[in-house]
Amino acid sequence: MADLSVDLGFRVLKSPLITASGTFGYGEEFLPFYDLDILGAIVMKGIFRDPRPGNPPPRLHETPAGLLNSIGLAGPGSAALQEIIRRLHARTAVPIIVNVCGEDDEEFAEVAALFSAMDEVAMLELNISCPNVRQGGACPAQDAGHTARLVRQVKDRVRKPLIVKLSPNAVDIVAVAQAAQDSGADALSLVNTFLGMAVDITTRRPVFANVYAGLSGPAIKPLALRLVREVCRRAYVPVIGMGGIASGHDVLEYFLVGAAAVQIGTINFREPAAALRITGEIEAEMERLKIKSLSEIRGQLQA
Ligand code: SIN
Repeated sequence: MADLSVDLGFRVLKSPLITASGTFGYGEEFLPFYDLDILGAIVMKGIFRDPRPGNPPPRLHETPAGLLNSIGLAGPGSAALQEIIRRLHARTAVPIIVNVCGEDDEEFAEVAALFSAMDEVAMLELNISCPNVRQGGACPAQDAGHTARLVRQVKDRVRKPLIVKLSPNAVDIVAVAQAAQDSGADALSLVNTFLGMAVDITTRRPVFANVYAGLSGPAIKPLALRLVREVCRRAYVPVIGMGGIASGHDVLEYFLVGAAAVQIGTINFREPAAALRITGEIEAEMERLKIKSLSEIRGQLQA
């Protein structure tokens, strides 16, 4: 029997598969599809202190090999999410990760502290990389100095493991990763979506009100894999890889470049029970490669 468990150093997960923020609702929506206990963890959709309407429609646009989104971190606010988490925790033992957002550094720290205090919450993921909040896609993860200040401020206020989610749209993602880990991040997750756009040729206008949007899905997998490799070569904290993962084969690729766990995102929209299939595929690949544990291949890329 393959051992799917992975050790993040601060916590062992029973599976390498974590569902990515914004692609898995608040977990409850997926309870009818499979037993969420098979997952390593789930990440809640990003949350601010107060409810947010998000960006005006359209918010989604399909491309030949991916999905552009400009949701704008719509959400019910922290108080409502606390209720949802209590309900979900009563129905499943899967570890819950809260994706923490903020309009400014103080709000990031306040929201992080609030969820850090909840027994039902296993970890926090700091979302400093959403490209859909400010015009032009600007976010804290594009700047190593801002990332360092923000991570330190949040870390001072929390007692749960802190994962920092990085942006592929930074000029130097390795520098930002180093700033995050040097400032106290317990783990890094990458990558969030790539900045892209679409044009309506009839109206001659951008499809999205914000002009730019975030691209995810199979199109970004080779790009994300490279960035995960670059960061893993310098990281001394565990790296959670993501970007276009849709099969067990994809998961093993991310482990070979050094990921300690992975997140699956866009595939959840097309195939709500994707994690179930991918779990079986990981086991089959491990059997084919005669691997008993994913730690045997982590970072073992021969290049
Ligand atoms: C969004 O809500 O716009 C996407 C979330 C993200 O990219 O972090």
